[in-house]
Order: sequence, then structure tokens, then C-alpha cells
Amino acid sequence: MQALLLAGGLGTRLRPLTEHLPKPMAPVVNRPWLEHLIKHLQSQGLSDFVIAVKHNADIIRNHFGDGRRFGVNIAYSQEPELLGTAGAIKHAEPLLTANRFIVINADIIHHVDLLPLLEFHQSSGALVTIGLTEVEDPSQYGVVQQTSSGRILRFVEKPPRHKAPSNRINAGIYVMEKEALAWIPAGREVSIERETFPLLIRKGLPVYGCTVRGYWLDMGTHDRYLALHRDALDGKIDLQLPYPRKMEGVWIGENTNISSHAILIPPVVIGPGTKVERGAVIGPYAVLGENVTVHADSRLAHAVILPGTRLAQNRVFRHAIVGPDFLITTRPAEIPRQGVMQQ
Ligand code: GDD
Ligand code: MG
Repeated sequence: MQALLLAGGLGTRLRPLTEHLPKPMAPVVNRPWLEHLIKHLQSQGLSDFVIAVKHNADIIRNHFGDGRRFGVNIAYSQEPELLGTAGAIKHAEPLLTANRFIVINADIIHHVDLLPLLEFHQSSGALVTIGLTEVEDPSQYGVVQQTSSGRILRFVEKPPRHKAPSNRINAGIYVMEKEALAWIPAGREVSIERETFPLLIRKGLPVYGCTVRGYWLDMGTHDRYLALHRDALDGKIDLQLPYPRKMEGVWIGENTNISSHAILIPPVVIGPGTKVERGAVIGPYAVLGENVTVHADSRLAHAVILPGTRLAQNRVFRHAIVGPDFLITTRPAEIPRQGVMQQ
């Protein structure tokens, strides 16, 4: 089955991290998220992808090419202008070869088992089945109201918290029949959440929701981005860490230069070519990208350091995302325990 990955959004809330990067290419434990995502989907038997791109599209194309290097097949749907989530799907129509396909918001971090969703879609006879998850505060998401059989009666995008009809939200994973595309006008911006889903529901067409199991998180804000790294290092999401494990909770790439007078407190990931000087204290929950330099006596914990960053001497970086030309700090209290693990 083909999967269409929506990867063209602006990612404004993650700036400056996404200033020059499409959000799904943001590094997650030193690998672009989209690479983790494609690997995960591949492990579920998917090998045929269409990526809907717009902003910084070349970064995605150059990284994945036709997908062969990753053992998959990738085609690109390039939008001339931002067409919105439904507009992007409509624009990809010529590349969708079968009558049924999966659509995924590529910025969602998940390890979801798709089989139950596909089976539910098949047995309910839905035109669209929306994968759902539950969160404490649904106001940043698409929220649904359902019947006991799972049929969706209402879909409201980002309602004020007190008006949300439930805590069940759109997880950004859909199974769609190609016929649904007839309801999306071509050549203009269309939001699937604000326009298409409400229209299909109003027309009485079978739109269903099915709760998906497994880790789920929208990484779209700084605090969630850090929460995601914490969860990944805790093993709550099963990502293939990019380097060998040197000891319990410590992964180190090649050609690093780590002073024997530095202290590593697991969990810690250190990218290739990175230098850690004497007196530095790294961890817990520190992810250092490629070719980072941590000068003497600096300390970092709950931090993600992007490739090529040099951290000044004798400084403290906690609850921080640091790039070569930016420093973002979040207060620990803001980091939500939001990764949802449903068994
Ligand atoms: N190709 C393309 N073109 N992709 C787009 C466009 C577009 O015009 N607009 C958005 N996208 C992509 C984004 O790159 C992202 O991967 C995905 O579509 C969703 O867009 P976001 O901007 O991240 O939406 P959101 O996080 O506010 O809300 C969406 O995701 C929630 C789950 O995290 C909605 O689908 C909500 O209903 C949902 O709950
Ligand atoms: Mg998002």
C-alpha cells in the first residue's frame, strides 16, 4: 500500500530549528525524523511512498532521492504554492496508484501499529478512517465526537479547551479511499481539518475514527521536542540509535575526542567528530550532534545540541536546544509528560 507523507508545512512553532529545515527533517537523536518514520513504516511492510513537499523541498529530495538507498520507493509531489493539508493530497492524486492509501502528517512522532487501523477501515466500509489518540488538552489538535461504532459525528480543528467535544484527537494518520479526493477542490488551498472532514461528515459520508496504539507525540514545539528526546533516550519510543552503545545508556559515534577528565551521566548520545573538553559534565539526557565542541567545564543536561555547535567554556545548558547561532531554553515545568503510550 502507498503512503503519502505530508511534509510541506512551515513549522513556524519550532523556529529557529526549522528556519532552514522542513520540520519532518528536524534531527531526532541525530537523525532526520523523516528517516526514522520511513524506517518504521517500512518495518510495517510499507515500501512505496509519496512525499508532498513545498518548503525547503530540496533538503528532503537530496536526502532521500528515489529512496533506493533506504530500500524503499519514493516519489515527490511538489506544490507550486502551499495548498494546505487537503490541497496537498489532491495535488498528489496523479501519483496515487491504488484505490486505497495511507496519509500521514510527517511531523508526528509515532510508533503506531497500522494493521488494526487498516482492518477497522476495511470492516467499517469507511471512505476515510482517521487514526485517533487521546491527550489531556485537545485544544491544539483536531478533536472528534464519535458514535459507539466509531463513526465521526463532528470534527473540530483546534477548539478552545472548554468547547472540545472530547479528548480524542486526530493523530494525523488517515486511511483513505481515492473516491474521497472528488470532494477536494483542485488548485487552491484546502485544509482537510477545517474544510474536507467537516464537509464529508455533513454529506453523511462514512468517516470513521479508530484509536491507534503505540507511542504518539506531535513534536511541533520546543518543549515537546525536548520531551521527545527524553522519551527516546528512556526507550519509550523504539528508535534505532545511530551509533554503537559504549556502555549502559551511552552511545558514541566515530572520531570523537572525549577528555578523560569529562563526566558522562547517562543517558547520553554523542555524534561523530564531537569534542568534549576536560571538566565538562554531559548528561543526563544530552544529545550532541556531529562535530560539536563542548569547551572545558561546561555542563549540559536535558539538552539537544545541533551539529557544528560550539559551546562556550564554563556555561550551563539545561532544558535547552542549542544550534550554531541560537539558544532556546525551556523551563522544566513546561516539558509535558505527553508521549502517549497506549497498550
Ligand atoms: N505538502 C504540504 N502542503 N504539507 C503541508 C501543508 C501544505 O500546504 N500544510 C501542512 N502540511 C504538513 C505539515 O508539514 C505537517 O507535517 C502536517 O501537514 C500537519 O500540519 P501542521 O501544520 O503540523 O498541523 P498541526 O500540527 O497544527 O495540526 C495537524 O496535526 C495534528 C496532530 O498533530 C492537524 O491535522 C490536527 O488535526 C492534528 O490533531
Ligand atoms: Mg504538526
